Amino acid sequence: MSNDFDAAMAALDPALIVVTTAVNRERAGCLVGFHTQSSIEPKRFCVWLSKANHTYRVALRSSHLAVHFLTVDDLPLAQLFGTRTGDDVDKFRNLEVTAGPGDVPVLADCPHWMTVRRTTLVDDGADHVCMIGEVVAAHSDGHLEPLRLSQASHLTPGHRTEERPDPPTERADGG
Ligand SMILES: Cc1cc2nc3c(=O)[nH]c(=O)nc-3n(C[C@H](O)[C@H](O)[C@H](O)COP(=O)(O)O)c2cc1C
Repeated sequence: MSNDFDAAMAALDPALIVVTTAVNRERAGCLVGFHTQSSIEPKRFCVWLSKANHTYRVALRSSHLAVHFLTVDDLPLAQLFGTRTGDDVDKFRNLEVTAGPGDVPVLADCPHWMTVRRTTLVDDGADHVCMIGEVVAAHSDGHLEPLRLSQASHLTPGHRTEERPDPPTERADGG
């Protein structure tokens, strides 16, 4: 069963995105393969964030997310956001960003992006949490040739999905 599931998921070869967010001047962002449009009218978009990630912990407290659709030329960005963790480095240090709604960082290097206001969070006890967002702005420079999972499968994630920070959130630590 597991092999068949894995094979079907690999065959779908999802496009990769970078999800960013911010709260109280703390910026976060990670590479995401679990995402999809989830409503036509109103427009809704879902991303699933790993409970292991710095981005998840910041997103718990933030109001908005920015979704950046990576192109085939964006492997370096995928590497930065997918293999490093905001627990150790500032991924935004050498990047040009503009502030979107809720101060969400929008990456100037990515011409295909949208911002969403989080409406709902679904945690069914699994290792990723679904964040559902209302689309508030979107921008595209035209043709988009997506960077796909199969082109980035050699990357080692900055956090293993089974990792859990202790305490689980900065807020729990009084921060
Ligand atoms: C190909 C690939 C796909 C990934 N997909 C997801 C995903 O869908 N959701 C997620 O939360 N993390 C995903 N990750 C893991 C994070 O991008 C990675 O652990 C990142 O370093 C976490 O950064 P952070 O701790 O600063 O949030 C993926 C990583 C890779 C390499």
